[in-house]
Amino acid sequence: MANLKGIAILAYLPALAILGSTAPPLKAVYSRSQKSSSAIAKDAAKLLGLPSAPDAYFDGNDDNLDSLLQRSDISAVIIALPITLQPEFVLKCLSAGKHVLSEKPVAPDVARGLSLLSSADPLCQTKGLVWRVAENFEAEPAYRAAGEAIRSGKIGKVQFFKATVVNYVDKTSEWYKTPWRTVPDYQGGFLLDGGVHTIAALRTMLTEPFTQLSGFASLNKDYLLPHDTIHCIVRAGSHYHGVVEMTFASPTKSIPAAENIVITGSDGWVACNMSSEGFTVVIKSRVKEDGKPEEEQEYKETEETMTFPSKGVEVELAAFFAEIQKDGTGEQSLDIGNPRNALKDVGFIQAALNSEGNLTDLVLHFVPPE
Ligand SMILES: *[C@@H]1O[C@H](CO)[C@@H](O)[C@H](O)[C@H]1NC(C)=O
Ligand SMILES: *[C@@H]1O[C@H](CO)[C@@H](O)[C@H](O)[C@H]1NC(C)=O
Repeated sequence: MANLKGIAILAYLPALAILGSTAPPLKAVYSRSQKSSSAIAKDAAKLLGLPSAPDAYFDGNDDNLDSLLQRSDISAVIIALPITLQPEFVLKCLSAGKHVLSEKPVAPDVARGLSLLSSADPLCQTKGLVWRVAENFEAEPAYRAAGEAIRSGKIGKVQFFKATVVNYVDKTSEWYKTPWRTVPDYQGGFLLDGGVHTIAALRTMLTEPFTQLSGFASLNKDYLLPHDTIHCIVRAGSHYHGVVEMTFASPTKSIPAAENIVITGSDGWVACNMSSEGFTVVIKSRVKEDGKPEEEQEYKETEETMTFPSKGVEVELAAFFAEIQKDGTGEQSLDIGNPRNALKDVGFIQAALNSEGNLTDLVLHFVPPE
């Protein structure tokens, strides 16, 4: 397990603890420095209730990543490294014959993502390996349930949508202080790192893929280089469209009241909010009586409210483990963590950052095999 300390401790270890014995045992951790490697190993022992800490591997000694990858008793790794380093490690681990779950965004940009896919595909195929991207919003039960409600026709035919994300990030924020986020060497800064989540949530719910976008990007707080805000209009499929606005430059911690995501159809709409307590999904539907002209009907609508805990990380890990147990041979029951979809999310953000108002094609052309 190659690790970025924060994500490992805050997200993966607690999720592994919840999965308990349904997850494979954690045998080793790797981090570039000895300090963080042993800290994660210690935390892992505590959080997972292990009798002894997993083996700690780090750079500059014999117990390094290469020796970890030579262990035949380790079949899978979870990689959470800085964005620009990740592709190289994904290929290294696949080449060593390990199944891989890597962090989102799948790559810093579309070109490097496509190149990673074209190298990773043959490795997965010849060695029978699973490679998935940990996009937890795609796995969130709230978005999956909202998507199912939409596909089952609860709001009629989808017609338009909007997503609003407003974040406050100051220099003391836990996320900001991560060195590779403070001075990012990748496009978009937080917009890439965090923005892909929103795009993944939208595509999980919408019935058509994104096709075109026109947007503008700006930097409003100099410490959030290179960009902290994007606004765009987007087309999905050939007929419906929406608005996506994202900023990490809110001047205040309190943010203007707004639904995070609203998807509107011919007969109703679905709204989703996220908070520290979890997710709320509201579905409003117009009730229409059969066989009576609309003007003679009494106006009626229904409301359904659902709340969900936040458990995307747990679900994405469980989907990865289930896939490994089939040795990559079976059909995946839930399409969670598909690297091609994760790359489409990167393509969306990249287009929004570079569009300058021009209409940009969002359809990525992947080399076969799919
Ligand atoms: C989302 O939050 C806004 C306030 O920011 C509120 O007006 C709205 O009712 C909430 N919607 C849902 C679906 O929870
Ligand atoms: C936008 O389109 C105009 C006109 O085709 C072109 O001159 C300009 O370079 C484009 N800008 C970007 C950022 O693609």
